[in-house]
Amino acid sequence: MRQNMLFNKSRYSRIVILTGAGVSAGSGLRTYRGPNGVWEEYEVAKFGHAEALANRPEETWRLFGGRRELILAAKPNAAHLALAEWEAALAPHQEFLLVTQNVDGLHQCAGSKNVVEIHGNVMFTRCSNASCDLELYRDEQSHLNKVPICPKCGSVLRPNVVLFGEEIPVLPSWTVKRALRDCDLFIAVGTSGLVTPAANYVRGAEYAGARTILVNLEPMAQPNPAFKEQYLGPADEVLPELLAKL
Ligand code: OAD
Ligand code: ZN
Repeated sequence: MRQNMLFNKSRYSRIVILTGAGVSAGSGLRTYRGPNGVWEEYEVAKFGHAEALANRPEETWRLFGGRRELILAAKPNAAHLALAEWEAALAPHQEFLLVTQNVDGLHQCAGSKNVVEIHGNVMFTRCSNASCDLELYRDEQSHLNKVPICPKCGSVLRPNVVLFGEEIPVLPSWTVKRALRDCDLFIAVGTSGLVTPAANYVRGAEYAGARTILVNLEPMAQPNPAFKEQYLGPADEVLPELLAKL
């Protein structure tokens, strides 16, 4: 059985954590790149691009609707839980922002509070027509057989994720930039560092004078010199131990 970690108060006061698909690997969700990665099975241009949604929404749903089924069956792992417990142990004057590229909602499920989902959340559906006033809603259906249609305007409905060729919305983007500006501890966990803008956040943190740490299964294929420390191994083992020392 999992032992509850007891976290002491951290000495840092402006903390930014960036997570990627590697954090959810321990929950049985595949990463995007690497052996058995999502993009090996589903070509990005066909399934993950904004143009693909415009031309063949059924393919977009095939990928992201399929992810919904897997996410519904997944549970947070020790890395998600450690981040939530660590955040809860911070004093009120300590600022903490968990920036995630993941669209699975597992951080919130584990109890994390101050989370920014820069790539959206696949468990929500919205209208593809930007001027439609349909509200975003939680949707557990996978829509694998039929593309859902907006009841208000008749446009195609889409999963609430940021596709290639799309920008991160203004509010999450601004929230991250503001947190990085005076950050004193930055930890990236389980990310290949190949997708911008998230791949550049460590440079912002380094510029602000933060301690910069990478936790990943393996070294980045294109190492980023802005990371001054690296701890290798599965996030659900390495991260709880690291957080206990910070
Ligand atoms: P990637 O799939 O690119 O990279 C996952 C990283 O996690 C790799 O560096 C692995 O070595 C590492 N990893 C795998 N298992 C791990 C484990 N158990 N513990 C720790 N690390 C592990 O995922 P991201 O960097 O998150 O965007 O990808 C960024 C974005 O590209 C995603 O958000 C997604 C994708 O296209 C969208 O879909 C919008
Ligand atoms: Zn609509």
